[in-house]
Amino acid sequence: MNTQKVNWWIDAAAFLGFMVSFFTDITGVEIHQWMGIIVGLFILIHFFRHLEWISTVVSKFFGKTSLIAKVNLILDALIGLGFFNILFTGLIISTWLNLTFIDYSFWKNLHVALSVITLFALLFKLILHRKWIISVADKYIFRRTNDASPVVVAGTMSKSTAQSSRREFLKLSAVLGAGAVVGVVNIHKLISDVLTEQTSQNVSSGKLITTAEGQSVIASPSSATFEITETPVPVVQKPSPTEITENSQTSSACSILCHKSCSYPGRCRRYVDTNGNGKCDRGECL
Ligand code: HEM
Ligand code: HEM
Repeated sequence: MNTQKVNWWIDAAAFLGFMVSFFTDITGVEIHQWMGIIVGLFILIHFFRHLEWISTVVSKFFGKTSLIAKVNLILDALIGLGFFNILFTGLIISTWLNLTFIDYSFWKNLHVALSVITLFALLFKLILHRKWIISVADKYIFRRTNDASPVVVAGTMSKSTAQSSRREFLKLSAVLGAGAVVGVVNIHKLISDVLTEQTSQNVSSGKLITTAEGQSVIASPSSATFEITETPVPVVQKPSPTEITENSQTSSACSILCHKSCSYPGRCRRYVDTNGNGKCDRGECL
């Protein structure tokens, strides 16, 4: 099979697998983990197929090499590093190793943050390679033009070629746009996860109190000062006007940490069922 066509399919499979890895709610953790490993294998194949290009650009990096080749090399190195660390942190939090001594939240948040950063770097890389992606798609994948004609990267085109290239361009833009939306949604999810974890830590350590106006206040015992946070806080106790509720009242605070409402046997490493009702405590108002 044509090399460009093979490369296109490998790149498309790696990208698709990478995007699907962001939807753990749909795939579940087990499939997610295998999917991550398969994406890693595709990237390894992709890497070896470009090894000659890499060694050429590396050997000429400080010599006669175009700026765009240098930019591509640095970007590829960063994306490679990103993937290595995603797989590493993924294994650390995986149900396969089941490491109980780790700070699970920290490693999971790091895993998600690395995934999002790598996603944006990858989208940028795909923008840089848009002409190649579009022309190979146009010529070999969707077969609108004559197979014998060369892959057009730049230069003149017939009217029909220009039209079909435009179609591929719009498709690629839609794919990249969808990728950017997934990235933004995951950043938002990550930030709200971190805030919820902080809030639950403050509630459980008795540091969080709430004012009559419903503002959440973090009492700082060392300096005897109060710091007002803008975090949406799931504290329900309503105190009398002017009064500030004491720590004793926060013990009745209801904090739902997860909205997946998993039931036995649970779909993630954070599943815990101390009251034995077959549902994860993190999704209950305890
Ligand atoms: C899902 C992940 C990735 C996708 C979708 C992807 C996509 C692409 C595309 C479309 C090209 C240009 C066409 C081609 O020759 O294949 C390319 C080139 C290349 N990629 Fe990737 N890539 C990914 C990850 C990586 C990683 C992790 C590395 C490095 C470890 C890497 C290294 C390279 C190299 C060296 C080239 C050729 C030089 C250049 O950047 O122009 N790629 N990639
Ligand atoms: C393609 C690479 C990968 C990407 C883009 C990725 C992305 C993500 C994202 C965005 C989450 C957060 C999901 C959520 O909070 O709803 C997550 C969770 C997780 N990932 Fe990955 N991941 C990848 C590879 C892996 C690998 C290779 C493993 C392990 C072998 C792994 C194990 C996990 C685990 C255990 C969770 C926690 C699930 C949970 O607690 O709900 N990931 N991953």
